[in-house]
Amino acid sequence: MMSTLVFRRDPHRYVTELAEQYGPVFKLRILLFHVVCITDPILASEVLWSRLVDKPRFLYSFLDPFLGGESMLTSHTNMHWRSVRKAVAPAFSTSNMRVALPCVVDKSLALVNHLRSGDKSTVHNMDRLLLRLSMDIIGDFGFQFDLKVIQGLEGTSSSCTTDCADLLIGSTQEIVSRVQQIGRQTFFWRKDVRHGRQVLGCFRGYVTKLLKHMKNGHTRKGSIADLLLQAQSAYADKSLTDRQMFPEIAALFFAGSDTTAHAAAFILYLISQSADVERRVVSEIEDLTLLKCSGERQLRAIEYADLSRMTYLSAVIKEGLRMYPPVALGQLRISSSDFALGAKLVIPAGAIMWIPHHSVQNVSFNWDQPEEFLPERWLSGDAEFALHEKLQLPKELYNSPTTSGQGRRPKRYMPFAEGPRNCVGQNLAKLSLCAIIATLMQSFSFRLAPEPPDSAIEEHRTWKRSLSAWTGDQCLHRCWIPMHTEPLRGSNNHGESITTS
Ligand code: HEM
Repeated sequence: MMSTLVFRRDPHRYVTELAEQYGPVFKLRILLFHVVCITDPILASEVLWSRLVDKPRFLYSFLDPFLGGESMLTSHTNMHWRSVRKAVAPAFSTSNMRVALPCVVDKSLALVNHLRSGDKSTVHNMDRLLLRLSMDIIGDFGFQFDLKVIQGLEGTSSSCTTDCADLLIGSTQEIVSRVQQIGRQTFFWRKDVRHGRQVLGCFRGYVTKLLKHMKNGHTRKGSIADLLLQAQSAYADKSLTDRQMFPEIAALFFAGSDTTAHAAAFILYLISQSADVERRVVSEIEDLTLLKCSGERQLRAIEYADLSRMTYLSAVIKEGLRMYPPVALGQLRISSSDFALGAKLVIPAGAIMWIPHHSVQNVSFNWDQPEEFLPERWLSGDAEFALHEKLQLPKELYNSPTTSGQGRRPKRYMPFAEGPRNCVGQNLAKLSLCAIIATLMQSFSFRLAPEPPDSAIEEHRTWKRSLSAWTGDQCLHRCWIPMHTEPLRGSNNHGESITTS
């Protein structure tokens, strides 16, 4: 089972197939671990909201060499986690999102300029470019640190800053290699092992730079950096030490850039596959006068009020996050005592409860036509909630005090996770996705390009193979989203010609 999950090209699809075959609750044995896979939305919600379960810290510790220690992302739900989470959450408030938008648009326009520098035949690895874009966004909005990773592509900045994206990718690659090759670090004579260690060290060097920059007083009031500096240690009445702050910076930087980038790349891919969806997205942008008409010299930049009017694009984004949740692996939980799941099931102490987001969002017992890209399903109300008529398990299994009552409607859509450990940065992610896609679609139409040769694919393998993008499509599971861009051409509702070239 372990080798099937690690080496099959599409483990997330595989788990979804198992759920189709064995139902919404089944048990796997992975190495020494008993893993209960739960794709029933009611039971999943019960696990994720329970105070009796926690993150299995030992499973997340594989990220420690990368993040430089235990962080909000990987720690137990303890006092330290609570104090850091409470401190940084306001950075993602609605009022701060108004501050974020100009930064997101500005950085997205830098990507538009980069894409313009190629012609129709240039193949762009959009997944990689979008990673650069999201790193620039989180650097600027979160830490007031201009990483210039997109600008670096034009050769205008120092090689040191150009490398930042490669360091993030290289570090995640190394971490995955360590999971796949137990005892990898002991092979110190191997070139790839030495290189991996070096890359991790350089990435941590970057985080140290961010920390220094923050401490030199270059922070905006209310930003992630400012709030982290003000955060109080849970166990003493003083600020976080550098040692405590370091992993938090690395985790926020990593969690904030990697996920948004993959989501945007998948969404662009999905739009490129449906002429009708593309037409509707462009038409919505056009109705908001965000396309250039003949005579006008410049495109109008997206404003905050535009976002809530992009209802079709929001539906496209939700459908993209449903089909390709960037944290496809989902959430893992463990209980130190026997855990009563629903009315009649008991999960023994120490067993791992696994809520795989890709499967919850793609199994046929939770969704109609799950394999179809149907943004329309999000245009009418309540699509994110569980459908009671589709539930597979006998009714009496659900009758527990935790599943009934509480006034919480269980969800079958959870790309940002459910429960107290849900994504703290989801407001920024949603805003970024909307603004990035709309800004790119203001200028280009994207087409899937032929796959690059195998050696190039090998070079671009990342751990997202297993955590995010490993969903089985030929191009996507390799994390290469090669695309051509074409300038948008056409006419708007008033018969005026539109061009973005
Ligand atoms: C499309 C984009 C994003 C998706 C799909 C996403 C999804 C998730 C998911 C599923 C989790 C739970 C992970 C787990 O329990 O193992 C999570 C946690 C987290 N995310 Fe995001 N995320 C996104 C963007 C962001 C952004 C922009 C930030 C911040 C800048 C961020 C910061 C975090 C942090 C710090 C946690 C840990 C929260 C905690 O445990 O209290 N994420 N995210």
